[in-house]
Amino acid sequence: MCRMFLFVVIQLFVSLYAQRDKKFFRKDYKYIEETDSFYKIHTIHKTWQDAKAACEMEGATFFYPEDETEVNAVIDFLNKTQPFHWVYVGISDLLVKGVFETVDSIPIADVYNKWDAGEPNDLGGNEDCVNLRINGFLNDDKCDKKHPFICKKKRSMLEWNQFCYIPNMDYSYNENLGKCYKFHLKPRTWADAYVICNAEQSYLAVIDSPAEADYLKELTDKTSKDNIRGDYLRGAVLLGFHNRTGDGWKTIKGSPLEDSGYSKWGNQQPDGGVNEKCGSMFYNGRLNDINCSTKAFFICEHDVDILGSIFDERNAN
Ligand SMILES: *[C@@H]1O[C@H](CO)[C@@H](O)[C@H](O)[C@H]1NC(C)=O
Ligand SMILES: *[C@@H]1O[C@H](CO)[C@@H](O)[C@H](O)[C@H]1NC(C)=O
Ligand SMILES: *[C@@H]1O[C@H](CO)[C@@H](O)[C@H](O)[C@H]1NC(C)=O
Repeated sequence: MCRMFLFVVIQLFVSLYAQRDKKFFRKDYKYIEETDSFYKIHTIHKTWQDAKAACEMEGATFFYPEDETEVNAVIDFLNKTQPFHWVYVGISDLLVKGVFETVDSIPIADVYNKWDAGEPNDLGGNEDCVNLRINGFLNDDKCDKKHPFICKKKRSMLEWNQFCYIPNMDYSYNENLGKCYKFHLKPRTWADAYVICNAEQSYLAVIDSPAEADYLKELTDKTSKDNIRGDYLRGAVLLGFHNRTGDGWKTIKGSPLEDSGYSKWGNQQPDGGVNEKCGSMFYNGRLNDINCSTKAFFICEHDVDILGSIFDERNAN
């Protein structure tokens, strides 16, 4: 009861403070006043496709400049904070050669489109992805080259999950457990699932108690997964424990699985030896070892530390 009351009071507080006008998206994004948008410069170089996917995973868009104001503001931010002389932008002619469009299918003529002298030149016949040089001009480049890039979120597009204290609306709050969860229906390998949860400011779910195991089983049962085609393991969902370091089963938080509050293995499990070093849960709630290169559904979670989050937000911009 007491916890419930506190939660309602805190939610009231959050709803007053956490709206769009707070100008907060994520701790790792910087708000720029001139464009009323949030930006993150990714310093780990990626191919154009991987850059696009990374922005989507963060609930953002692969940045491209919409106009002169934005190109100036973003180049200024880039120049002040990073040593890069160019970044990939969300423009390509991958769909139809010679027709450059943004990642959201806007013709380049309708956004910022100043090419550098002699560009685009489709050098070697395979330059289909666009980068922005620090001099403010665009250039076509090979999509499989790895470059830094920028992700963007417009403040007007921000939808705030007030209960989970993140922008992802598809996380749902469980009041009794004090955590937010998302069941991912696109099957992935354990490591890819780990990356996705991390990009969503969460982590691969770790079961702390029998009550949480019951809830994850219930969440799994009620999620409709019959129509998901493809090559993946049916019957288990990936969770945040492993024996990848070879020194026994432990959670991704580092504690031995047997001390985690829930370690009920399924019948005869674990049974995979060195070929199955990643953790999953059968649909019946029992744990199972799984080949780390096997794709399956997975669940991400995060704790809801509302007061801590507000503190972060105050210090963000
Ligand atoms: C980058 O910053 C330096 C130092 O402030 C400045 O001299 C230079 O003109 C800037 N370059 C661009 C492209 O804005
Ligand atoms: C963890 O993996 C190592 C091999 O990498 C294996 O020797 C060991 O038995 C495994 N531990 C458990 C508890 O299964
Ligand atoms: C399982 O793991 C082994 C070794 O890591 C690998 O060679 C094999 O292809 C995997 N099998 C499947 C079905 O993913």
